[in-house]
Amino acid sequence: MSRFLSTLLVLGLILSFSASQLCSNALAKGRTLRQVATSKHFLIGSAGSIWKFTPDGSYQNTLSTQFNMLTPENELKWFATEPQQGKFDFYWGDKIVAFAQQNNMRIHGHTLVWFDSLPAWVKNGTFTRDELIAVMKNHIQTVVSHYKGKIQEWDVVNEAIEHHGNGLRDNIFLRVIGPEYIAMAFQFAHEADPDAVLFYNDFGTENWPIKSDFQYNLLKGLLKQGVPVNAVGLQMHEYSDNPIPVDRYRKELQRLGSLGLRVGVTEFDASSKEPQKNPLAMRLGVQAQTYANAVSACRAVSACKSFTIWGVNDKTTHQSDLAPVIFDANNQPKPAYTSVLRTVLRSK
Ligand code: XIL
Repeated sequence: MSRFLSTLLVLGLILSFSASQLCSNALAKGRTLRQVATSKHFLIGSAGSIWKFTPDGSYQNTLSTQFNMLTPENELKWFATEPQQGKFDFYWGDKIVAFAQQNNMRIHGHTLVWFDSLPAWVKNGTFTRDELIAVMKNHIQTVVSHYKGKIQEWDVVNEAIEHHGNGLRDNIFLRVIGPEYIAMAFQFAHEADPDAVLFYNDFGTENWPIKSDFQYNLLKGLLKQGVPVNAVGLQMHEYSDNPIPVDRYRKELQRLGSLGLRVGVTEFDASSKEPQKNPLAMRLGVQAQTYANAVSACRAVSACKSFTIWGVNDKTTHQSDLAPVIFDANNQPKPAYTSVLRTVLRSK
């Protein structure tokens, strides 16, 4: 592309985003994203961590004014809640949960059974099958009971499918217990809190047919056996230079919904693999479009009730070098913020 054309393109993007920003702000009548989403009965979430709270309150303020749902980013993972066998620690979990409650936010609990973030005593444990079932049951039931009535929904099993979808992922639970560990985990969680919405959560299923078919069949099989799985989460860690196949993603949401499951986008972000390659305005524009596409497909599918962004701002997100979220390092809204706001605002 000639220098002249790319300058024009960048100018065009800046103008169109400034114009649409003005227009959306007017339509939103000064309301925040949270207020607009709430008026549409839509859950707009963010991953938030007590370990990232700032002394000036700016991180917390963005979290509570812009989002009506919070996923504790790390505080409820196994390493944090049961660092030693049978010794539970809810110090940090209680703090982030109290913050969400004080701000009247729904809480999405993350996560009970995952191959990652396990303390060494579990990961390298030498358990018999019965022992590991008992360990898993005690972990799930102690954590879920502790937050009963406070945490309304849980990622019960996270990333149980192999990276690209060729079978179940190898982990200690699969090796020692067998594939039934998934059904058992849901059963244990349900026993501890029959009112909680129980999620299976994984990544890549918006993109990859093999993995999405595997997940679909896994969930269908669990439901057929009467396993209390109520919902499915699509993590969606995206790269904005690798566009989401929007049609197949929307159809995926629809077919999961047709199983009778609630659907949620649980960890959305849109990074740029080559952050410095393109002009900033162009990158921000492409990212805003990626967000708009993702939110709009969710809004078009009735089963899709929530959209969570994985991190509050670009400074504190887990991919902070790739500027993947909707607030910049200073908590200022990016074009992606406006595009999410506008998409929610215009949706039915
Ligand atoms: C990430 C957190 O954001 C980081 O702070 C932490 O160091 C590692 O985990 N999929 C998940 C999340 O389900 O729990 C991960 O969160 C991101 C990928």
